[in-house]
This record gives sequence, structure tokens and C-alpha cells, in this order.
Amino acid sequence: MKGLLYLVILGLICCTNGKISEGELKQYLNDVYEKEASDQCYKTAVAQFDFETDVRNKKKEELTTNLTLEQAAWEKSVWTKYFKDVVPEEYEDPTIRRELKFLKVLGSAALEPKKLEKLNEVNNRMTEIYSTGKICPYKNHKCDLTKDGLTLEPGIENIMSASKDYDELVYAWTKWRDATGAKMKDLYKTYVELSNEEARANNFSDKGEYWRFAYEDPQFIDNVDAIWKEVEPLYNELHKYVGNKLKDRYGDKLDMKDGLLPAHVFGNMWAQSWEHLRDLVEPFPKAGQMDVDAQMKKQGYTVLEMFKKSDEFYQSLGLYSMEMCYNESAGAMIRKPTDGREVLCHASAWDFCDKKTFRLKMCTDVTFEDFRTIHHEMGHVQYYLQYKHLPYSFRHGANPAFHEAVGDTMALSVSTPAHLKKIKLLTNFEESYESDINTLMNMALEKISFLPFGLLIDKWRWDVFSGAVQPEKWNSHWWHYRMKYQKVKPPVERSDTKDFDPGAKYHIPGDSQYIAYFVAHILQFQFYKSLCIEAKQYDPHNRAVPLHRCDFYNSVEAGNKLKAGLSLGSSKHWSETLEIMTGSKSVTAQPLLEYFEPLYKFLKAENEKLSPKITVNMSTMIIEKFGPNNTRVLFSRKTEIHTDQKM
Ligand SMILES: *[C@@H]1O[C@H](CO)[C@@H](O)[C@H](O)[C@H]1NC(C)=O
Ligand SMILES: *[C@@H]1O[C@H](CO)[C@@H](O)[C@H](O)[C@H]1NC(C)=O
Ligand SMILES: *[C@@H]1O[C@H](CO)[C@@H](O)[C@H](O)[C@H]1NC(C)=O
Ligand SMILES: *[C@@H]1O[C@H](CO)[C@@H](O)[C@H](O)[C@H]1NC(C)=O
Ligand SMILES: *[C@@H]1O[C@H](CO)[C@@H](O)[C@H](O)[C@H]1NC(C)=O
Ligand SMILES: *[C@@H]1O[C@H](CO)[C@@H](O)[C@H](O)[C@H]1NC(C)=O
Ligand SMILES: [Zn+2]
Repeated sequence: MKGLLYLVILGLICCTNGKISEGELKQYLNDVYEKEASDQCYKTAVAQFDFETDVRNKKKEELTTNLTLEQAAWEKSVWTKYFKDVVPEEYEDPTIRRELKFLKVLGSAALEPKKLEKLNEVNNRMTEIYSTGKICPYKNHKCDLTKDGLTLEPGIENIMSASKDYDELVYAWTKWRDATGAKMKDLYKTYVELSNEEARANNFSDKGEYWRFAYEDPQFIDNVDAIWKEVEPLYNELHKYVGNKLKDRYGDKLDMKDGLLPAHVFGNMWAQSWEHLRDLVEPFPKAGQMDVDAQMKKQGYTVLEMFKKSDEFYQSLGLYSMEMCYNESAGAMIRKPTDGREVLCHASAWDFCDKKTFRLKMCTDVTFEDFRTIHHEMGHVQYYLQYKHLPYSFRHGANPAFHEAVGDTMALSVSTPAHLKKIKLLTNFEESYESDINTLMNMALEKISFLPFGLLIDKWRWDVFSGAVQPEKWNSHWWHYRMKYQKVKPPVERSDTKDFDPGAKYHIPGDSQYIAYFVAHILQFQFYKSLCIEAKQYDPHNRAVPLHRCDFYNSVEAGNKLKAGLSLGSSKHWSETLEIMTGSKSVTAQPLLEYFEPLYKFLKAENEKLSPKITVNMSTMIIEKFGPNNTRVLFSRKTEIHTDQKM
């Protein structure tokens, strides 16, 4: 009662000077905004999902555009009326203050409708180029693309992951970049201009700063650089070890005199994951074979069973069932359609904002890699479910990296030999020093190889958006970062006029920020360690059983620890949420290094036996001068469709 009286009085005071009273604002947010925002989001999400599962359909594209514009108009009218001029600090309730902080940022609706339409059109064109990009088979350079052309998934990716023919790999690598990136360079210029206009309309200096707002950290750029410094020594040892094995495979064809490796020989289009080199680099071939793919095939696993197994793992921790998100009768897409539709295969998890519709979209193959991706995507859905009770503005991850880390944390536990044995995907496996090193190597090929790539995509975009690098230098700047961080070089000459290699990676045309994946790769080891301790599967003081062997399956205690953080959504600053989940207020690579410690020692010892020592000479690389400083400010969150993409 006291509270009500207080609000009434406050209302009287407030309204005399033209401000919306705290009571009125609360009422508006709870009774009106909540429903309207969810409805708008739902309609757009349904149309967008329909379009992405039928990308050649012009009607669906048009409907998506219409609804996006309608949603933008609604957001703008509400923002103008309620949020534009509010000063969050003038309100008492800390929850309202935090909601207003996010609501004050309008997002793309801040653009005038004509420009917003243009931006959407450019985004759709780039995505279309990417998702319909095709190349001819190596043996038939002059094929009819519509009949015999290979798409990225599965055709071109199969070549990249399986071929050991250096020249065939060069061919596929180059042609994919011709078919995609090179065709969108001019579109990307328009995209950068309009995206920056959007950011400025929201009071940010450029789109990079706008993206960084989600991290609520004025030192964000310095902090990610510092994390990279922590893990770089481990990456360097892995790079050197793998490089020497590649040299054995390709001999004189492979030039690594400068310490850089050609970017096309890692079994992956972007050298972002090296797991397909597993057979080549396995440290102890006689110890413990982890051939989960073969087991899945042998047991006749189906796509649906893979989703069910993953769901079962989450439920064993006392978390929500996620059956609805992979139910094809309820609209989910879990395999590539065979009815002639062209779809955006890139795996994603969708929140339709109505608190009950959640779907996955994925072209799943029966492989261990896709099994892990399922756990990743399910992590997003579990997060959506855990925070669905919160106000609309808080139905986000504590920051975007938290969202990306949840499912990967599960996959770390699921991928342990101990767990794979439990679910009968591994037989005849003995634990030993040798098999531990093999297991850690597999994990490093997936996780450590990714780190520099996860960092450099947005480092490049921050420079592009801020204008520190001009369009004439976009491509060479991209290669500057790929050399500096990944220590890879292009297998054939690249040009700043013809080529636009960043565009050959989904998230560039897809307008999807990337640094979240880098931070998530660090964060997931923090989560994992904490859940392992909670489940009594790891003792950080005696470490008799090493961290990487922990499986927290069936631990409701671990599940509760996770829930305590996830159910907060973005209602608290991420450092508070992180403290609840791990006991630490900051992101640190220490748990990751603890996990990989035995492998790091092994790699160092092996690499020391190699001669001559290879060092990267940075002065032989392309290094440009930079213009203005990378300024940084706090970030915002626009009301957008809640989807999350595969890396
Ligand atoms: C989109 O909006 C335009 C203009 O209002 C309209 O003519 C068209 O029919 C709409 N398209 C769809 C698919 O709703
Ligand atoms: C190469 O492509 C052409 C044009 O589509 C086709 O006629 C021919 O059969 C193809 N050759 C092979 C070996 O596939
Ligand atoms: C934009 O930022 C400036 C400087 O931080 C601030 O003074 C101004 O009030 C902001 N404008 C809006 C509309 O938030
Ligand atoms: C899948 O969705 C359909 C249609 O909504 C529903 O009838 C069915 O019960 C669902 N299946 C499961 C296993 O939940
Ligand atoms: C690095 O390369 C530059 C240019 O080729 C050369 O002058 C320099 O001596 C090299 N530094 C080292 C440490 O090898
Ligand atoms: C870069 O930052 C320094 C130190 O903060 C400042 O003195 C300088 O003017 C800045 N340069 C530009 C181009 O903004
Ligand atoms: Zn994701």
C-alpha cells in the first residue's frame, strides 16, 4: 500500500513538469508494451523463418520486408512517444532504469523508412548471393551451374574437409570466393554506409560501437586483446605442430618458410576449425580411437535421434524439455528439404517471442560434428526458455557471448570419452596419458584453432565501420589480420580491386556480429569448470582427475547453477550473472588453460625437437597504418528477431 501511495505522489510531482511518471511508465510497460512488442516480433519472425526456408520465393521475401517495415514503424512511434526523451536516472526502480537503458536505443527503425528499406534490400541481396553461391566441380570447370553446380553445404565443404589434393583445394577455395565475396563488394559499401547511419541515429559513433554496446564494457576492445594474449602461446604451439604435419603431407607444394601456412589446407573453408585434420595430427595413433562418426553410422542413427539424445542430456540436469524446437510437424526444419526449395542452411535457433514457439533450422547430417552443433543450438533454446518469464527487454543473454557459450558447455561434457561410452557411441576405449592427449588434441582442433578467427572478424569490421580502413584497402586489411592472428596466408594472389574475401564467410553478408563466439570460447570453459565442481566431478585443489575428463551428466546441482544464471536474462549486468554462475566477476582464460595444460606441455616438447625453429616475421607482412583511434562507448540492443547463428 505504501508503494502505491508513493507512486501516486510521484506521479503528481512528475506530471507537473511534463515527464511520464514512474507509475504510468510501469503500467504502460507491463500492460501495453509487453504485448505489442511480442506480437510485432512474432509476426516478423514467422515471415522471416518462412523466407529463410524458401529463399527464392519473392512473395515471402516481400512479406518479410513489409513486416519488418511495419515493425520498425511501430517501434519508432512507441520510442518517440515514451522512450526518446526519458532520462533513466530520474527513475527510482533499478529495473525500470535498466529497461529504459535498452529501450532508449531504437535500432534500425531509427533510419528513415526509405533508407531502412534499402538496407534490408542490400542485406537480402548479400544473403542471397551467399546462400545460392555455386561452383563447378574440379573436373569440369565449364559446367552448367544450375545443373551441376556444387553448393557450400554439403558439396564444397566436403571437398574442403576430405580432399588431400592441394590443387583441388586451391580451386574450391578460390572459386567459392569468386562466387560469393567478389560479387558483393559494392553492396557491402552501401551496407556499411547505411549501417553507420543507423548507428549514428542511435547516438553511437559507428556500427562497431553500436555492436559493442551489448557488452556494457568501456574497456571491451582492450579486454578481448588481453584474453588473446593469454591464449596465443597455446595457439602458436598448435599451429606449429599442425604446420609440420601438413608439410609432411604436401611436401614442396607447401611453403611455410615465413611461418605462415596457406589458408586452404586445414580441412575448412576459413581455417576456423581443424578437426578434419584429426587423422593427420593424432599424437598417439595406437591409443584410443574416437571414431564416433563410424559408430553413429553403424548404429543407424537418425537425425531425429540426435536431437532427442541432446534433449535428454539437458533434461538430465533438471532443465526444460525442448521437444518443440525440433518437431517438424510444428514447423522446425532439421534437414535440408528435398522438395526443390532453396534454404539458408546455416544452423540457427529461433525465439518467436510468444513464450511458446521455439524452432531450430538446420541441414543436419548424421555426424559427430553436427551432433555437437545440435547441443550448441539447443543451448540457445534452453536460454530462451529459462528467461521467457522476464520483461521483453530482458529476454536476451547476459551478453551475446553467454548465449553462444551455453550449448558448447554441454557439448564439452558430452564429448568426453566417459560420456560417449555411457551413451554407447564409443567402444574399446581405455583411458591413459596417450588417449588423454589424443582427446585434448581433438578438442584443440575444434576450439583453439577457432580463437584467432573468432577475434579477427570483428576486429576487421570495427576498423571498417570506424573508417580506420578505406574500401580500397578492405581486402588487404582482412589479410593483414588473418596473417597476424591466424598466421595463415592466401594460397593464390589476392587483389583489393577484384576480391572481397570477408564476404565468403556467412556472418559478413549476414550482418551478424562475431566477437560473441570468441568470448564464448573462453567463457564456456569457465562455465564447464564451475559446473564440474558443482557436480563433484572436479576438484580444483587436488586435480587428481584432470578437468577435461569431467562429465556432469545427471547432475541436478550443475543444472541449478546454470539455471540461476540463465534465468536472469539480461536483467543484471553480465558480471553479476557470471559471479553467480562461476564465482568470478570477469572473463578469464584460466579455466581454458587449465583444461589444455597437458596438451600444451606435450606440444611444446614436441615442437622443440623440430628444427629449424619457425618464427613469424611480422615485418614481412602487409601492415597498414591506421587512421583515427578506435573509440569505444557503451552499447545498445535493438528490438530484433531473436535468432542465433552457427559460428
Ligand atoms: C507489401 O506491401 C506492398 C505495399 O504496401 C503491397 O503492395 C504488397 O502487396 C505487400 N506484399 C505482401 C506479400 O504482403
Ligand atoms: C561438364 O559440363 C557440361 C555442361 O553442363 C556437360 O555437358 C558435361 O557432361 C560435363 N562433363 C562431365 C564429365 O561431367
Ligand atoms: C547522445 O549522446 C550524447 C553524449 O553522450 C548525450 O549528451 C545525448 O543526450 C545523447 N542523445 C540521446 C538522444 O540519447
Ligand atoms: C509436434 O507438433 C505437432 C503439431 O503441433 C503435435 O501434434 C505433436 O504432438 C508434436 N509432437 C511432439 C512429440 O511434441
Ligand atoms: C624480418 O624481415 C625483414 C624484411 O625482410 C628483415 O629485414 C628482418 O631482418 C627480418 N627479421 C628477422 C628477425 O628475421
Ligand atoms: C587518438 O588518441 C589520442 C590519445 O587519446 C589523441 O590525443 C589523438 O588526438 C587521437 N587521434 C585521433 C585521430 O582521434
Ligand atoms: Zn549460436
